[in-house]
Amino acid sequence: MPDIHARKRDGVPIVMITAYDATFTRLVDACDVDIVLVGDSLGMVMQGRDHTLEVTVDDMIYHARCVRRALRCAHMTVDMPFMSYQVSPEKALENAGRLVKEGGAASVKLEGGARVVPAIEALVAAGIPVMGHLGLTPQSVHAFGGFKVQAREEAEAQRLREEALMLQDAGCFSMVLEGIPAPLATEVSASLSIPTIGIGAGNGCDGQVLVMQDLLGLDDNFKPKFVKRYAELADTVRDAFSEYAREVRSRAFPGKEHTFKAKKRKSKDAGL
Ligand code: KIV
Ligand code: NA
Repeated sequence: MPDIHARKRDGVPIVMITAYDATFTRLVDACDVDIVLVGDSLGMVMQGRDHTLEVTVDDMIYHARCVRRALRCAHMTVDMPFMSYQVSPEKALENAGRLVKEGGAASVKLEGGARVVPAIEALVAAGIPVMGHLGLTPQSVHAFGGFKVQAREEAEAQRLREEALMLQDAGCFSMVLEGIPAPLATEVSASLSIPTIGIGAGNGCDGQVLVMQDLLGLDDNFKPKFVKRYAELADTVRDAFSEYAREVRSRAFPGKEHTFKAKKRKSKDAGL
């Protein structure tokens, strides 16, 4: 927590990437990333769903454990899935406790403003650091009528300004601002003492987060405006799979160098 706060004071942007398994966590962790987020976006990128609503606490724990085993350096935040913190602050505390004790979370993230303040206060009082999440909060996809940019109207923008302060007062150590106009995100970031981490919220936040699969270009059909692809891995992976299939069918693979020999027979066995 102190390191993350120092980043805002020193004006050094915070780098956050999502991860869901050990293989990719090892790669992320080797690259000076500050925070690894085990996001409930795993409902989409790992489980193939259209949204995050069906992800369970057990799902989050499973993936958190996979990430935790491979993580050496970065801070690990784990998302609280839909309905794990809305029912009551007591239920929220119970579920956040499981993410920490069973999943190895160093902090948890949950979505929403005023309505989640009692839950946040309960977690913070128990010593669990909480990251907030405002704007296009994907667990509200049905209420929004789709994944749409939020707070474009002034009344809604004003509400977001107020809720950002409420989250800070409730004890959040940081918050994600997702899918809102850049000037609003910049203004909110400047108004807070805790760092904001943006996604689809412009360049004025105190950090940025992207879903790993998006920045690696692993899904050809997902090209939203806010994603920058730093690689086109879908092409690379398909090329590798196709060449493997070709070589298996032509018996070019496995070659001599991939093949084991039997032990040489001892002389007394010779001729048997
Ligand atoms: O679930 C997720 O990956 C997230 C980030 C995109 C902020 O919540
Ligand atoms: Na999420």
